[in-house]
Amino acid sequence: MKSLSRLPMLRNPRFWQVARVIIFCLALLPFVFLLQGALLNTLGADPARELALETGRWALRMLLLSLAITPLRELTGLTGLFPLRRMLGLFALFYAVLHFIVYMVFLLALRWSEIGSDILERPYITVGFVALLILAAMGVTSTKAMMRRLGPRWKQLHQLVYVAAMLALLHLLWILRTDLFDAVFYGTILFLLLVYRLVTRLKKRRTRAARRQAV
Ligand code: HEM
Repeated sequence: MKSLSRLPMLRNPRFWQVARVIIFCLALLPFVFLLQGALLNTLGADPARELALETGRWALRMLLLSLAITPLRELTGLTGLFPLRRMLGLFALFYAVLHFIVYMVFLLALRWSEIGSDILERPYITVGFVALLILAAMGVTSTKAMMRRLGPRWKQLHQLVYVAAMLALLHLLWILRTDLFDAVFYGTILFLLLVYRLVTRLKKRRTRAARRQAV
């Protein structure tokens, strides 16, 4: 797969600029369709629930896609993929915030005490809320300036993305009662990403130890 990075087209920065614009537009499309559906009232019998489900699904998909960028970059050697991780991560936050807004405004009609007790007392809402807080913390600290300011702590904080993904999956598992297909599908993807991460980490640790011994 590494040979991909030798293809002249994929080494051209212009290619990656265009690719980023196209991926940005594609990631925005679900929002455009949902907005159109809401305005034209074509979201079915329960539009509020449909909006809640779709924004939640897209938040999870974007989160998993952003997590897949590092393995893809390492396996293919395509460094141009790198900025996509942040872009897709911010899209995950965008859809998660929309999901929370839909829940507060359309499902609970801004009844603040009910929203508060849901967050504190209903476990699937609690884990969703914690996942959202983690995504927000990562979004706020995703700039280059914050990266410099936080130093090594930045990396530690951004490792929490895996916790956010696991909580989002738990949130989904809690909601799905009969149809487990989505949970198994997204769960398998997350599991493979975690295994990849663990294996590459162990490899890096071993290489470092071997180098230290050689000195
Ligand atoms: C404050 C945080 C959150 C609240 C209050 C919340 C609330 C909800 C609610 C009320 C539903 C619909 C349940 C139903 O009617 O069956 C739902 C579904 C869902 N949420 Fe969340 N959520 C939150 C955070 C998140 C986050 C951060 C993610 C993903 C990154 C997420 C992903 C999902 C998914 C995938 C579904 C299920 C869609 C389906 O059934 O296919 N949620 N959430």
